[in-house]
Amino acid sequence: MSVNVSQKTLTATDIRLRKGGEPLVCLTAYTTPIAKLVDAHCDVALVGDSVGMVLHGLPSTLSVTLDMMILHGKAVVRGLSHALCVVDLPFGTYEESPEQAFRSAARILAETGAAAVKLEGGVHMATTIDFLVRRGVPVMGHIGLTPQSVNTLGGYKVQGRDADAERVLADACAVSEAGAFAVVLEKISQSLAKQITSSIACPTIGIGAGPDCDGQILVVDDMLGMFSDFRPKFVKRYADLAAQAETAVSAYAEEVRRRKFPSKDHSFGDLA
Ligand code: KIV
Repeated sequence: MSVNVSQKTLTATDIRLRKGGEPLVCLTAYTTPIAKLVDAHCDVALVGDSVGMVLHGLPSTLSVTLDMMILHGKAVVRGLSHALCVVDLPFGTYEESPEQAFRSAARILAETGAAAVKLEGGVHMATTIDFLVRRGVPVMGHIGLTPQSVNTLGGYKVQGRDADAERVLADACAVSEAGAFAVVLEKISQSLAKQITSSIACPTIGIGAGPDCDGQILVVDDMLGMFSDFRPKFVKRYADLAAQAETAVSAYAEEVRRRKFPSKDHSFGDLA
């Protein structure tokens, strides 16, 4: 495996200092083997609450629990030596009060070894972000399309169009001013992402937000083509692993049925 990034373990401060510099490369990871792959090429490994939909077959991220995030966070940290590990705070574990957010974030940092958390929300979460950062918890923000609010947003729609742009810009400014070391911009127009990126102090990490952000993130299973039926416009497929896996599993099934596998090559003899 080629390693094209330095081996220093990155911190939230290193990520913040990359504002306007070399693009930040980020991917999600939920398991140790994928974390190792991501670590060799990326700056940030995000244990996103998308794990609920991607690995557990849940219909949305709303029923992901803190225990699930901690389990996957531990697995990912075991695979990293370079990338910063950021773990999502799941729905219902931080919105009630800054104190509730601190308790959840402290569990994540203490039990996984990750060095930062991510939470969704703009202006209304600024007090919480400030509270966490002042108490030693680096926070990555997440604005625009915030999937935990799918029920109030009315679906997974592009955000910040027309008059709504002011709201998304205000969210970005509030998150950055509250002390977030970076902010994810999800599913907003390229021009709004560009305006936000040039207006705020912390790096922007785009997903469906065009090329002008300070960095990019994708869900790793999406860019590897692990699904045949899910193809959002903003995802580029760099592989088609679902098709390859289908071919492999069907070949295995056929060979077992026809007693072609295992052959002598995959069986043990009597002699050592
Ligand atoms: O949960 C997740 O994977 C995320 C990314 C899409 C940014 O929040």
